Amino acid sequence: MQELSIVEGGALLIVGERIEKVGALKEIEPLIGADCKVVNSGGRVVMPGFVDAHTHPVFAGTRVGEFEERGAGATYREIAERGEGIQSTVRATREAPIDELVTAGKRYANWFLRTGTTTVEAKSGYGLTLEDELKILRAIKLLDRETPLRYVPTFLGAHDVPGEYKSRREQYVSLLIEEMLPRVAQGKLAEYCDVFCEEKVFTTDESWKILSAARCHGLGLRIHADQLSLSGGAKLAAELNTVTADHLEYTDREGIAALKSAGVQPVLLPGSVYSLGSSRYPAARAMIDAGLALVLATDFNPGSSPTPSMPMILSLASTQMKMTPAESITASTINPAYTLNRGEQIGSLEPGKIADFVIHDCDDYRELAYFFGIEHPWKVYTRGRLVYERTAPNAEGVG
Ligand code: NIG
Ligand code: FE
Repeated sequence: MQELSIVEGGALLIVGERIEKVGALKEIEPLIGADCKVVNSGGRVVMPGFVDAHTHPVFAGTRVGEFEERGAGATYREIAERGEGIQSTVRATREAPIDELVTAGKRYANWFLRTGTTTVEAKSGYGLTLEDELKILRAIKLLDRETPLRYVPTFLGAHDVPGEYKSRREQYVSLLIEEMLPRVAQGKLAEYCDVFCEEKVFTTDESWKILSAARCHGLGLRIHADQLSLSGGAKLAAELNTVTADHLEYTDREGIAALKSAGVQPVLLPGSVYSLGSSRYPAARAMIDAGLALVLATDFNPGSSPTPSMPMILSLASTQMKMTPAESITASTINPAYTLNRGEQIGSLEPGKIADFVIHDCDDYRELAYFFGIEHPWKVYTRGRLVYERTAPNAEGVG
């Protein structure tokens, strides 16, 4: 994870949507034909777009009131237990027509792009009825089609037990398994299935049932594990050989060893730890030292992590989890691409891959983690096309 393949004074040749060649400028220059458009990066850092492998980008409203309350001492769990938290976003999202969700989603897509992200894994999970979950997954499909951002959809019908099922939760688990999963799979509306495995949300037994059913429908598996307590999520991930286990704030040594022997990739979400005002960051160093192919992601959502910014996550990874900037870049580009079954298409700048890249306004990649609270991208490209450009009159930076 520490070894980045940096080409000093490098250049890229792009043909259509794909990278044709990467190398030193003198190797690329002779290939520049009369029909080529030349973009001079002016010595800036050119990198693959970030691949954000854990987001909840389709929801209605915000939770600013709850944010304010947490500032005054209320906890995320207390708020959830009185039927607010995720449930309040569920109520707002159920009421919103799909167009409204897509309009809000486009605003967030723009935020992802302007902070250098070109692919997001996108979870449903604020509907929790068949129709509302399908509405969110359809909104994700529309966003993928109508914005330059790439979306990889995940079904998270098991994000919470909805209020109306609290006293008969086993019926909600049956609904997920018998009605929702078959419809999602039949409509090819998701590539992955996720479950929020946590005390008072879905138990490890319920999570096992839901994820096993999802596997039978051909979906890849991800899991929200050990976020608020050591609830057995990481061990379950290992037992089921899920693709990823996400959060892991409370995962212990045994859990880390289990992930390693099962080849499960950890997805760490320090933005949610920060935003919840906690100091319990996951044990990134122990995971890297164990040889795990670690991933960093934003967890963008209206409750626990309202940030779309991967550079903010890189900053937190350095200061709070003692990761080097190089490790963070590996964890936010090529490693997540593999968790999304797209390791051969995105996540690095190599011949044959899709030309999703960013020109950052800095001359050393470490500045991405070091200067925080600013937007680094100068130009962002997806599929070889310019999709964001900083246009302020003082936009000229290094060069
Ligand atoms: O990943 N943990 C569960 N889901 C989200 C929070 C969603 C919300 O609060 O709306 C998370 O942190
Ligand atoms: Fe999440």
